[in-house]
Amino acid sequence: MTTLAILTAAGSGSRLGFDLPKALVPLRGLPLVLHAARRLTASGAVDALVVTAPNGLVSVMSDVLEHDPHVSVPVVVVAGGPTRQSSVAAGLSRARADMDTVVVHDAARPLAPAAMIRRVVETVKAGHQAVIPGVPVVDTIKVVAPRGQVEAGRPALPEGVDRVAATPARTLLRAVQTPQAFDRALLVRAHAAGAARARTEATAATDDASLVEALGEDVFMVEGDELAMKVTTARDFYYIEKLLIEDGR
Ligand code: CTP
Ligand code: MG
Repeated sequence: MTTLAILTAAGSGSRLGFDLPKALVPLRGLPLVLHAARRLTASGAVDALVVTAPNGLVSVMSDVLEHDPHVSVPVVVVAGGPTRQSSVAAGLSRARADMDTVVVHDAARPLAPAAMIRRVVETVKAGHQAVIPGVPVVDTIKVVAPRGQVEAGRPALPEGVDRVAATPARTLLRAVQTPQAFDRALLVRAHAAGAARARTEATAATDDASLVEALGEDVFMVEGDELAMKVTTARDFYYIEKLLIEDGR
């Protein structure tokens, strides 16, 4: 029984605002996707990799990954879709029947450490079928009422003003990271059930666990790691460069 990792790298990185797709942006000389692929390989918990590439960049992505001596597992590169959810589905279609566990990881989280990757995968192998890493949140988080409809008995809100609807207890909130790991059959079922959402980011799931939750199945959480932070903006990029230097790798 083997483990497949799907490494999502098909996004454009519009919020990062560099000239290259985010996964190909070099972090201390190495593309983000390669940092992530090396750490997945170094974990020893992954037997094969499927990487999603932006349309038209499949062969560029293959060149980056295939010639790297530190990525010692077989790599297949596939074209991603218009949303992260559709890209994961494209990767998942390459999972073979002998692969019992599937790990989904973002190239945008290039420094997720090997120990954390092992923690997530081992918890699935121990019998929890959907496992995600999470970290406590530092901000107080509010839920606001959905916009675009006048709420019964309330005046319409001016542009730029939202009504606060709830304040969840911060002690119970976690910010979620990747890698997320799943029993393959469960993840296939979750993506099939949620497939209608995948066409645009407005409806697509922002992580794979939420598709499993939508089935009514349990999702379990283990401790995440600051090093698994996501690079979204230029500020994140400079911060993660500092983390990499401190980490000494
Ligand atoms: N991703 C993907 N296919 C898409 C969109 C995103 O494989 N159609 C991947 C990205 O490459 C990234 C991860 O999903 O590794 C998380 O997405 P995000 O941080 O939103 O990256 P981008 O979509 O590239 O960035 P932006 O939303 O700023 O354009
Ligand atoms: Mg995106």
